[in-house]
Amino acid sequence: MSHLVLDRLSMRFHLPGGPVEALRDVSLSLPRGEMLAVLGPSGCGKTTLLNIVAGFLAPTEGQVTLEGRPVTGPGPDRGMVFQQGALFEWMSVADNVAFGPRMKGMARRERGDLVEHLLEQVGLAGFGSKAVYELSGGMQQRVALARCLAGDPAVILMDEPLGALDALTREKMQGLVLRLWRETGKTILLITHSVEEALLLGARLVVMAPRPGRIHRDEGLPFAAMGAEGGDLRAVKREPAFAERREEILSLIWDMEEEIMGRAGGAA
Ligand SMILES: Nc1ncnc2c1ncn2[C@@H]1O[C@H](COP(=O)(O)OP(=O)(O)OP(=O)(O)O)[C@@H](O)[C@H]1O
Ligand SMILES: [Mg+2]
Repeated sequence: MSHLVLDRLSMRFHLPGGPVEALRDVSLSLPRGEMLAVLGPSGCGKTTLLNIVAGFLAPTEGQVTLEGRPVTGPGPDRGMVFQQGALFEWMSVADNVAFGPRMKGMARRERGDLVEHLLEQVGLAGFGSKAVYELSGGMQQRVALARCLAGDPAVILMDEPLGALDALTREKMQGLVLRLWRETGKTILLITHSVEEALLLGARLVVMAPRPGRIHRDEGLPFAAMGAEGGDLRAVKREPAFAERREEILSLIWDMEEEIMGRAGGAA
């Protein structure tokens, strides 16, 4: 059975210049444990899509169901990881990770064990008492992942989670996201601007097209499975099949951007 279903979602925003069709008729069905990467040019509705699944936005048409239950607002069954800045700066690392479980009334002892386990899982064992501002951007994103996992959500929603990191840190974090996916078996919906990241992490890739935001392509990919097997991500990137896909998807997105620029130029 499909676990997360997006059924004919449309979203129109009414702006002073006229309505914007951020999404039109977007349908997707994710089995439990799928890692779906969503790519597309700026403005094609990726964040809007994620916000609807998170329950922050109600679609103009259509609905999202998780395990057959309609999504009507935010809930602990869907965890979010943002690009940056979503941690509580004034709390320690451990308190950030323990926040959700504490709200749910988990006993202190149990919380402590959970935090220890999660910090170890994200490579931050021993960092629990540090303040968030003492950590690098990459470490802060590790805390954000641990905090998300602490709520034990059925689905993890990530909007450019690694977008603010330098190249090397980003590469390490990609390995971590793949490992967490394998270890936890969570359903993950990942939005990224990076074609390489989408190919490395997505067991399935959706490419969106803009104006109106819609699904342009939807296909399975072999590379996440290769990486999750403990494979070296660098080696995966060196595969001829990887380079071929990367070029193909890059030119697809390039062409879409050119078309948008052309249209915008023509209108000016
Ligand atoms: N709250 C809002 N009110 C009005 N228009 C909005 C709102 N949110 C998004 N839009 C419009 O909807 C369209 C899709 O925006 P969205 O942020 O989902 O794109 P995106 O694919 O996430 O872009 P980016 O890659 O730049 O993050 C854009 O034209 C945007 O201006
Ligand atoms: Mg966005």
